[in-house]
Formats: sequence, structure tokens, C-alpha cells
Amino acid sequence: MYSTEDARRGAQRRLPRLVFDFIDGAAGREAGAQRNEVRFDDIYLQPRVMENVASRSLATEILGQKFDVPFGIAPMGMCNLVCPGADRILCKAAVQRAMPVCVSSAASSTLEDMREWAGNRAWFQLYYGQSEEASLAAVERAAEAGYDTLLLTADVPQVSRRVRDQRNGFNVPFTLTLTSFLDFAFHPRWSVSTLAAGIPSPKNMGKGDQFVRGASRAGADWEFLAKLRKTWQGNLIVKGITSAWDALRVRDAGVDALYVSNHGGRQLDSVPPAIDLLPRVREAVGKDMPLLFDSGVRNGEDVVKALALGADFVMLGRPVLFALGAAGEQGLSSMLDCYTKDTDAAIAQLGITSVAGLWSGVLYEPGTAAREGMSNLSHSLKVAARN
Ligand SMILES: Cc1cc2nc3c(=O)[nH]c(=O)nc-3n(C[C@H](O)[C@H](O)[C@H](O)COP(=O)(O)O)c2cc1C
Repeated sequence: MYSTEDARRGAQRRLPRLVFDFIDGAAGREAGAQRNEVRFDDIYLQPRVMENVASRSLATEILGQKFDVPFGIAPMGMCNLVCPGADRILCKAAVQRAMPVCVSSAASSTLEDMREWAGNRAWFQLYYGQSEEASLAAVERAAEAGYDTLLLTADVPQVSRRVRDQRNGFNVPFTLTLTSFLDFAFHPRWSVSTLAAGIPSPKNMGKGDQFVRGASRAGADWEFLAKLRKTWQGNLIVKGITSAWDALRVRDAGVDALYVSNHGGRQLDSVPPAIDLLPRVREAVGKDMPLLFDSGVRNGEDVVKALALGADFVMLGRPVLFALGAAGEQGLSSMLDCYTKDTDAAIAQLGITSVAGLWSGVLYEPGTAAREGMSNLSHSLKVAARN
């Protein structure tokens, strides 16, 4: 497995359709998810020669925490569906590679277990639950478990309808339908190992708050954010920022970092490509506000592009689950090696020795006409390849 594309193909072969589509699928016609990826191909990096780059480092720091690589694992619910023990494997990788792993409110392992497995590499991601009380109870639980970094995901007031999930009868809590039964029957290896490990279910809502995938989370508002800021003593990140206006208001609410993301196109199909939104947010908040980024990152060069466009840190979503689905722990390890090596090779090509040296000056700006031509061409090629 040498690329995210390899991993995606492997996962498609090995996983029941229902599970693969849960990872790969997105809102609406899934054009927003495609644009997130394709847009990266329209951003060019300008190589430099004769710079001495013999000694390089990918180490970086955000929120007072030091990491060996400038990327980590985005929060994703129900990872154990992809392979038994996926949450534990992710935590182990976070420790071994000194990178953060986000523990989702919808994770299929308890936040206490994941904190134990990943130590302070684990960050807890909060979804507003059925009530303010229930949400704050989850926060309290995270504090008791020893978390020092909390992410509030703000871009899911309502889980969007995903056509593939509906066709496949996918739901959380899980219910078996005739279609899913047949799907599992055709993937006996996955079915036997998953059944043996126990069908995954969400483990992290607050007291009395059951995770229901379709439930409204629309109660999260500015007042709740203010309360959360008062309650939570550790680092607070708000995930799902896509506009300069929201970025400024969230920053002024006293959070420690902003996380630019369009949820991988899983929420709003007509959302602009996430990478286009990043420089706007950076420009609005100035150079000192810590910014994280995800949505559409598919290799080390994409990591470099996001850092050059204003991110301090990059998070990986679907590629991680594809890798686990394709080849379990070994798959994840190969995939993370690819990202590390490609990020390192890319900065060497740019003539710099550390990710701190990445800035917009490493980007190549073609003339407008050429840029538009390339943009259309690469978009058509990618769409054709996917179909
Ligand atoms: C299967 C799956 C489950 C996800 N679950 C969550 C979640 O529980 N909480 C959250 O904040 N984001 C969740 N996300 C969104 C990711 O954190 C991230 O924003 C997104 O995957 C980035 O897009 P990309 O995977 O295309 O790069 C999920 C994404 C996927 C693919």
C-alpha cells in the first residue's frame, strides 16, 4: 500500500459496502467531498535548488504540546467498525509517532480507555448532546479521565442525510436489515472478526445521553460556547470553522485554537473546498492564532500545502480509516510512513529544513489563464478516475 488511493481500493475490497460507504460517503451528490481533494491539485509548490537541507525535522508545536510530525488523527466515530481494535491501534500509533489522536464523542471505545492507551496524545472531541446538561456531563467525564485538550465540533447542528448510508440501511445504533445481512455474508472475514470482538457501539455520551446519529445537535450556540469556556480549564478548540466571520467570533469567545474543516463534505454538499477557506481564516485572525485544518488531505504534499496556506497543524480523516480497513495495523503504519516521508521529501524540495519555514512564499502562482486551464483539466481527470 503506497498511497491513499491504494488504501481506499483495499478498503473497498475488504469491507462490507455498508462500512466502506459510511467512511467514503458524503452529503448530497458528494461533489463537495470531491472538490476538497481535487482543489489541492490546483495548488503548486515552487521547488528551490542549492539550499543545504541535509538536516531536516518535521517536529512542531501547537497549544504548548510538542509533536514529531505536523499531522494527527481527526476525530472519527465508530472506527472499530473498520477493523476490531481500531481505536486502540490509532492510540498506539499516536504514542509511537508522537502525534495527537482525537477521541470522538461517537467513538466505539470509552474515552477513559482511549486516554489510557494514548496518554496525553489523546484529545477529546465533543458533540453537543441531547441537552446542555448532558453535554457538560461528557466534558466533566473527559476532565476526570485526564484530558487536557477538548475540541467542540460545531458544524453538525443536524447530521446530514447521506444517500449511500440510506441505501445501505446504515444507522447508529446499529440495526440489521436484509441488505446489511447479505452485505456481511459476502464479507465473512470482516463479519466473523467483528462479531467475535462485539458489534461496535458509541461509548462516550454524557450520563443519560444516548448517542443517536440522527439526533439534533442544534442546541449548541454562543451561550453554550461561553459556558464551555468557563467550565473547561484546558485547551479548547472549535472544529468546523469555514468563514472569517465565525473565526473572529469564536476567537473572541476565548478559545485556544480554531479548526478549519468542512467535515470532509459530509455535512453540506455545496460547501467551498476547505483548502480555499484556510487562507481567508488565517488572514482574518492574524498570524498568532493557532489553526488546525482538515478535509481533503490525501498525501504529504497536501500537508505541506495546508501548512503553507496558514495551518499550524493538519489532521487526517478518511485516509486513516481506509488504511485500517485495507490492512489493519500494518496498513495504518504504511500509510503514516507515506505521509511522513512525503512531507519530509516535499520540504527538502522546497529548500527548507523545518515545517516552521513553510509560508505562502513556497507556493507557485501561475498566470490566471493557465491556472484556470489546469484547474479544469485536473478536475475532469480526477472525476473520470473516480467514476
Ligand atoms: C467515518 C467518519 C466519521 C467521522 N466522525 C466524526 C466525529 O465523530 N466527530 C467529528 O468532529 N468529525 C467526524 N468526522 C469528520 C472528520 O473529523 C474530518 O473532519 C473529515 O474526515 C475530514 O475530511 P477527509 O476525511 O475527507 O479528509 C468523521 C469523518 C468520517 C470519515
